[in-house]
Amino acid sequence: MRDLSAELLAWYDVHARVMPWRVAPTDRLAGVAPDPYRVWLSEVMLQQTTVAAVRDYFGRFVGRWPTVQDLADARDEDVMAEWAGLGYYARARNLLKCARVIASEHEGVFPADHGALLNLPGIGPYTAAAIGSIAFDLPLTVVDGNVERVMARMFNDPTPLPGAKPILTAYADDLTPAERPGDYAQAVMDLGATICTPRSPACGICPWRDPCTARAEGTAQDLPRKTPKKAKPIRHGSVYLGQRADGAWLLERRPDKGLLGGMLGWPGSDWVNADGARPLGEAPVEAVWQEIPGEVRHTFTHFHLMLTVYRADLPADIEPERGHFIPEPEFRPTDLPTVMRKALDLVRS
Ligand code: ADE
Repeated sequence: MRDLSAELLAWYDVHARVMPWRVAPTDRLAGVAPDPYRVWLSEVMLQQTTVAAVRDYFGRFVGRWPTVQDLADARDEDVMAEWAGLGYYARARNLLKCARVIASEHEGVFPADHGALLNLPGIGPYTAAAIGSIAFDLPLTVVDGNVERVMARMFNDPTPLPGAKPILTAYADDLTPAERPGDYAQAVMDLGATICTPRSPACGICPWRDPCTARAEGTAQDLPRKTPKKAKPIRHGSVYLGQRADGAWLLERRPDKGLLGGMLGWPGSDWVNADGARPLGEAPVEAVWQEIPGEVRHTFTHFHLMLTVYRADLPADIEPERGHFIPEPEFRPTDLPTVMRKALDLVRS
């Protein structure tokens, strides 16, 4: 019987993508192990986010916090500010929690054990398998969207996602080798990202073109099938951008729990499913608030958001009921989550 994983690894040895958290396959074979901290950080960042978007964030994080101990010692607000723009902010809160548990309970060393990894905050089945295999070469099966697509095609399985997850995981499990499982996991991901792509797979140059059943049947483009998603509802809200004459902006830190938890944002209303009527919300201070023409649109996982933006010049001696002033020299728009930055862009446009 042919050795499919060996064939893919031979391809990976030549075509592995270069990434700042990776050890190249030749170095890995020579015994160089990746830094589990970098593997973990990259895997958390890569969830729901592309490699291209992650690169610069990753560089800034490891530049500022070179070890998990450094990250554990960081201030929450500094980590949230560095994460701003990456989205899914619970990941950043869990990242800090996890770093602190590793510092306090594991002497600053990532455990080379699947069960221990799974017990860490924010580390679910995907991340535990990814760290275990990539950093420690444990024979674990790593299944992300790329791997699901490759498996659905290899085995020409028409079961729609997300229901197909268990069966696609079982296929992936069968193919995972005991030797070099970390490189193998990354090889399947690279295959999915560069050749077995969602829209126009480059089957002609695929190292698995001969054994691939979907290629033989001509169905690769149509797989994996997906159960249609429900349309996202639209929510409405308002935000208030107040600026003092000295340039300071009125901002507030959002509660740790909930959407954009722990991030800096403009004071504003709740976001509700209004039938046409826009919620005015409560302005954080009494002032002459001017509605800015246009609106902010932003899409979250479960809804679209439309924000009405108000702006006011605030007197120097004002005492806001909500939030605090950030002096202009300390205010960095890049510290804001994207939706809040869009509101600033609208005011400045
Ligand atoms: N996506 C998530 N983790 C990855 C990795 N280690 N290599 C390539 N793509 C990835």
